[in-house]
Amino acid sequence: MSPFLLTRTLPADATDAALRADVLSGLTAQPKTLPPKWFYDAHGSDLFEEITRLDEYYPTRAEREILIARAGEIAAASGAKTLIELGSGSSEKTRHLLDALPELHTYVPVDVSESALKGASEALLAERDGLSVHALVADFTHVLELPDSPGPRLVVFLGGTLGNLLPDERAAFLKSVRARLAPGDGLLLGTDLVKDEATLVTAYDDAAGVTAAFNKNVLTVVNRELGADFPAGEFDHVALWDPDNEWIEMRLRARRALTVKIRELDLVVQFEEGEELRTEVSAKFREEKVRQELATAGLRLDQWWTDAAGRFALSLATAD
Ligand SMILES: C[S@@+](CC[C@H](N)C(=O)[O-])C[C@H]1O[C@@H](n2cnc3c(N)ncnc32)[C@H](O)[C@@H]1O
Repeated sequence: MSPFLLTRTLPADATDAALRADVLSGLTAQPKTLPPKWFYDAHGSDLFEEITRLDEYYPTRAEREILIARAGEIAAASGAKTLIELGSGSSEKTRHLLDALPELHTYVPVDVSESALKGASEALLAERDGLSVHALVADFTHVLELPDSPGPRLVVFLGGTLGNLLPDERAAFLKSVRARLAPGDGLLLGTDLVKDEATLVTAYDDAAGVTAAFNKNVLTVVNRELGADFPAGEFDHVALWDPDNEWIEMRLRARRALTVKIRELDLVVQFEEGEELRTEVSAKFREEKVRQELATAGLRLDQWWTDAAGRFALSLATAD
C-alpha cells in the first residue's frame, strides 16, 4: 500500500472566515466581485471536470497535447523527486508527467477542493505502487507549509489557473513560488494564449450551459455556507473579452432589481436590473508577457512549448 496523507493546512473555520471576508468585501464593492476559488465545492469541481470535456473548451485538450509531447523533456530537465501541483483538481493531465518520472518519490497535490483531492489521490494510489501522495487542502495564494520531501522539486501549475489571478496577485503569487524553490528546482506553468475573440468567448459560454451552471454555483455556495438567498435563476451567465486587459471576464447579470440577504453576515445587498457581479477573470498571455512576469519574480524561462495550433503554452522555468 502506498503512503497517503491528507493535511488541512487551515484551521477548521478558516475557509468559513475567508469566505465571509471575501463575500463582505466583494459584495459591498463597486462593481461587485467574488473570487473564483469559491466555485469549487464538490459540485463545482464536478462541473469544472465536465467543462474540460466540452467541445468548446479547448484549453484542456491543448495542454494535454503539449504534456504528452513534452513529458519526457520535462522529466529529463527537472529530474524531479517531488512534484508539487497547485490547483491540482482531478490531477488528470498530471498523469502524463507522473508516467515520465519513474524516480518520483512524492506527489503533493494542493487544492481548496477536498473532494477533488480525495478523488484524485485515491485514483493515483490505486494505480501507482510506491508513490507517496501528500495532499494539501490549502489556498495556494497563502503561505504553503510543504511537507519535507526529497529534491529536486518541480512545482506544476496547470489549466491556465494563473490567469484567474489579477496582475498584482499574480506577481505576489509568482514571488511566493520562487521563494519556495531551491537551486535546481523548477516551475512548469500552463498559460492560455491570446487568440480570436469568438474562440475565447465560446470556450466560456458553451451551448449546453455547463459553464453557466458552474458560474451560478458560486451563488449556491454562498447560499449554503452563509445563509444567503440568492435566486440563482434570476441571474444570467455572461462571458466577455476585455481587449485592453486581454482577459475573459465571467459575470452574473441580475435579470431584475433584487434584494439579497446574507444572514450570517447580517448584510443586505441590492442589485439593480442588469447589474453585474464579476466572478472570474481569465487572463490570456503572450510569450513575452510570461517571460517578463517570471523574470520579475526571479524565474528564468528555459522552455516555451505550444500545442500545434498555438492555442496554449507550457513554460518550464528555473530559479535564477
Ligand atoms: C481551472 S481549475 C484547473 C484544474 C486542473 N489543474 C486542470 O488543469 O484541469 C482550478 C483548480 O484550482 C483550484 N483552486 C482555485 N483557486 C485556488 C486557491 N486559491 N488555492 C488552491 N486551489 C485553488 C480549484 O479548486 C480547481 O481545482
